Amino acid sequence: MNEHADPHITSLDLRNPIWERFFTVAPLVLVATREPDGQADIAPKHLAIPMSWENYFGFVCTPRHATYTNIQRTGVFTVTYPRPEQILYASLAASPRCGDGSAKPVLAAFETTPAERVDGVFVAGGYIFLECELFKIVDGFGDNSLITGRIVAAHAHRDALRVSDADDAELLRKSPLLAYLYPERFATIADTNAFPMPAGMQR
Ligand SMILES: Cc1cc2nc3c(=O)[nH]c(=O)nc-3n(C[C@H](O)[C@H](O)[C@H](O)COP(=O)(O)O)c2cc1C
Repeated sequence: MNEHADPHITSLDLRNPIWERFFTVAPLVLVATREPDGQADIAPKHLAIPMSWENYFGFVCTPRHATYTNIQRTGVFTVTYPRPEQILYASLAASPRCGDGSAKPVLAAFETTPAERVDGVFVAGGYIFLECELFKIVDGFGDNSLITGRIVAAHAHRDALRVSDADDAELLRKSPLLAYLYPERFATIADTNAFPMPAGMQR
């Protein structure tokens, strides 16, 4: 253990992943893919963000998951951003499969809507819906891979869409966002503040 000048700071043991030692803020999305038998598979992902400011989306997934092999086989996936009141969907979608590896039975209870450009479904009641074609898979982050897709269609609930002359704070108060606080907590974000952008900043 390193000695730090500040006694409140301690170094962490890297023999194990560090991420369960503290909380970090992440999004939480539901990635849907098509199983070999034609059924929809849905799985929650929190290591999931836009890839750049362009229309790309990526998430981290282990090759052991059906989500990975389904995308490898079909070349497409969809993303639903659930609302805070849909937190149980994000939990249940991570339920184990039956012993024979067939689809998660609980998914039969999910209300879904069809995607338009790719073969896939969305979870009804979400607020952002992305249709993605596989762009690149980068393997090798230990047992995990980065799956990236090009967004070929996107849909949003009107109550989540920013309107130029409307108050963003009011929009988020009326349509709060779901945040995942890894490892085992979540938050509903309704109270927000404008970011203090530096004058003259360019992206
Ligand atoms: C809240 C939550 C977040 C998760 N985030 C991820 C993630 O970012 N990447 C990942 O590979 N698995 C993640 N998982 C685990 C998978 O979603 C879970 O193992 C799922 O059942 C895999 O399903 P599949 O085999 O149908 O792909 C998460 C699980 C939960 C409950």
